[in-house]
Amino acid sequence: MTDQGETPPPATPRERNRDVWADGAAYEAFVGRWSRQVAARFVRWLDVPDGRRWLDAGCGTGALTAAIPHAGVVVGLDPSLRFLRARPPAPSTAPTAPASRAAADATPGPQVAADTVPVPSVTDDPAPAAPVTDGPAPAPPATDDPAARVNRVAGDAAALPFADRVFDAVVSGLALNFVPRPEAAVAEFARVARPGAVVAAYVWDYAEGMQMIRHFWDVAADLDPAAEALDEGRRFPICHAPALAEAWMAAGLRRVTTTKIEIPTVFRSFDDFWHPFLGGQGPAPAYLAAQPPDRREAIRQALATRLGPNVIALTAGAWAVRGFKDI
Ligand SMILES: C[S@@+](CC[C@H](N)C(=O)[O-])C[C@H]1O[C@@H](n2cnc3c(N)ncnc32)[C@H](O)[C@@H]1O
Repeated sequence: MTDQGETPPPATPRERNRDVWADGAAYEAFVGRWSRQVAARFVRWLDVPDGRRWLDAGCGTGALTAAIPHAGVVVGLDPSLRFLRARPPAPSTAPTAPASRAAADATPGPQVAADTVPVPSVTDDPAPAAPVTDGPAPAPPATDDPAARVNRVAGDAAALPFADRVFDAVVSGLALNFVPRPEAAVAEFARVARPGAVVAAYVWDYAEGMQMIRHFWDVAADLDPAAEALDEGRRFPICHAPALAEAWMAAGLRRVTTTKIEIPTVFRSFDDFWHPFLGGQGPAPAYLAAQPPDRREAIRQALATRLGPNVIALTAGAWAVRGFKDI
């Protein structure tokens, strides 16, 4: 069930694989709410002036998009149409530039070039889903409506449907490790970035710092040896600071730095911790959904014993990387 009380639509064949991204409400309850907190700190770290053009690659339900300061134009790209159609994110609390300044700072914004869209764009979106071209384009809208400044496009981070050198900031939150060839995505990020633009991403530190998911896989692997291979701490070598820095440098980006962003993840009770794992979104919940009832119950009990029934105060660590395109 979603939090609107509706039964989610049946999974498509693509969604039946282990990384399921289909139910926006369930994703928000599981990880989206924590990604929003990391995103706010990440965007502050980037310190991009207002009124710029951003690409959020692997935008999902819009956790990172929502943290981008107003008066900019954002293109959110993701292969999951259901995530793209999720309710627009809440407005950022970041400072907003006055409309006149936004217009003065405006560089050409996203422009429609329908013939270059490789997959359908989202049709129920308030703003037209649009790839970006090099040509003259409208200025970013001077509006406080977060939906109006976000274009959502269906697509693959490793094959971006945009021209070269068109974005002032290319960012990605918790998505790079889910792209089959992350290095191909980073090369694409660098390609679509303008000279001087920042290219940046964050991923969970699954091996150590993302405690909520770490507890899950540690318990699951004790009960089911096959779970070990699905553990994101093992699956995703890109989720370490040196690997991120290497990928950024290999893409020709300069002044590459990494940082750790850690946030508190506090659960009111064991149920508050456990319930979001039942939503089926992402590797751990998808693994759980595929288990027989007795194994699900064994995992629940082992986690309850480990974490206790009261407030569970954990932390979630993410690695962030940024670099700049040569001028
Ligand atoms: C953990 S979610 C992160 C979503 C959002 N950025 C956030 O921080 O909450 C991972 C996202 O990566 C997307 N994704 C998976 N493969 C992708 C690809 N090849 N290109 C772009 N995004 C992809 C998924 O659809 C999903 O929305």
